[in-house]
Amino acid sequence: MSRTSPTRSPRRTSIADLLKSPTADSTVEITGWVRNKRVSKNIAFLEVNDGSRLANLQLVFPAAGPLGTEAAAAVDKGAAIRATGKLVASKGKGQAWEVLAESVKVVGACPDDYPLQTKRHGMEYLRTVAHLRPRTRTFQATFRVRNALAAAIHRFYQDRGFLWVHTPIIAASDAEGGGDLFKVTDLKGQDFFGTPSFLTVSGQLNVEPFASAYTDVYTFGPTFRAENSHTARHAAEFWMIEPEIAFADLEDVMDLAEDFVREITNEVHERCAEDMEFFDKWVEKGVLGRVAETVNKPFARMTYTEAIETLGKSGKSFEHPTSWGDPLQTEHERWLAEEFVKGPVFVTDYPTDQKAFYMRLSDDGRTVAATDLLVPRLGEIIGGSQREERLDVLDKELDRRGMERAPYWWYLELRRFGSTPHGGFGLGFERMLMYLTGVANIRDSIPYPRTPGQAGF
Ligand code: 4AD
Ligand code: MG
Repeated sequence: MSRTSPTRSPRRTSIADLLKSPTADSTVEITGWVRNKRVSKNIAFLEVNDGSRLANLQLVFPAAGPLGTEAAAAVDKGAAIRATGKLVASKGKGQAWEVLAESVKVVGACPDDYPLQTKRHGMEYLRTVAHLRPRTRTFQATFRVRNALAAAIHRFYQDRGFLWVHTPIIAASDAEGGGDLFKVTDLKGQDFFGTPSFLTVSGQLNVEPFASAYTDVYTFGPTFRAENSHTARHAAEFWMIEPEIAFADLEDVMDLAEDFVREITNEVHERCAEDMEFFDKWVEKGVLGRVAETVNKPFARMTYTEAIETLGKSGKSFEHPTSWGDPLQTEHERWLAEEFVKGPVFVTDYPTDQKAFYMRLSDDGRTVAATDLLVPRLGEIIGGSQREERLDVLDKELDRRGMERAPYWWYLELRRFGSTPHGGFGLGFERMLMYLTGVANIRDSIPYPRTPGQAGF
């Protein structure tokens, strides 16, 4: 199958396509929304954006041209327009090309009470207009990078022959054992499926059977957690990528995670250069270079026990205790990544009681073959492990935790029929996006955030 360069529609040219291979003096037809307007007596400018890239295209209305400055004055900020004109090298600063307007049609007018009329708004205000915020530069850049990141993720696994498995949204068990579940019932509150069911917290349990058949698999989809965490890094609905590999140990899992984070970062940096420069300049100064540099060095690896010792010797006074057995809090995770390692770090071999039932018990009897990947600014972005492949050990662990066996019968059966050492991890998609862009609040990394007490739109 041969593919010519695809255009989005024969009846308009996207601004990105237009500026990719500009031809001087060609007549062009563009569509978009007016971002800015400047009108003086002799000349007027409308800056138009269609979302295809960060930069606006400038329409120029010389008083002497076929369309005068009055035509521009009649078009409001925010209006949807369709315009034709001649593409010419720009005389002004800030853009290489501009369009001398020949016709402008207002497709959708935009009155004065348009909320984005004034120039700069805070992120909190913009959350209250989630239907309009995609028209701002910051959000446009964010969701373009989000799109590129998703594509890079699929490309990474597809290139390596991993099978994408569409695990269900409605789950019959609590995969993480954390109890942060949303229950699914019909409108009368009845169990529709005959057994209690929930929105999934992770696709992992459902994807493991596929790793036992296809060897290398992954899920990529939305997950739901009813954690009442009011932080900038927790959402009740978020997306997760969960690869699962058979015939593999924790080392293999970390090697995969490291390649994965590095490659998707590099691909996004390359594909979204214009947007990344924007984040680097306006959202988190220097984020581009810092992430590029640290991600391209080998990631540090240390055990939980070493992490606890290091925190103890740090001389820092943390809010939470750092004795063996205490969970690593975000302040500890950030210190390890930001100050100690100055880059991404895998922490491994956590105490059994801090982690989920399915993780492989180590010979010391008190830790499991788990790993979290911690990065500067955020702390944990990946959680993973080698899984317990030994039926008797897993059986005992369920008992020890007092867990009901019924929902897991099939999961246990996998350990009887051709069980292999295997493992995987989950990357929080929004957290990865925040890491790349410097966007500080998870609410601003997802089109319509769902957090405790908030689900408008
Ligand atoms: O560490 P978690 O809970 O691991 C799992 O769910 C495993 N089943 C993954 C696996 O081994 N297949 O979650 C994985 C990642 C976290 O590191 C974090 O980045 C993200 O998911 N995450 C959240 N992101 C946003 N909001 C929340 N409430 C999140 N909870 C977890
Ligand atoms: Mg975790």
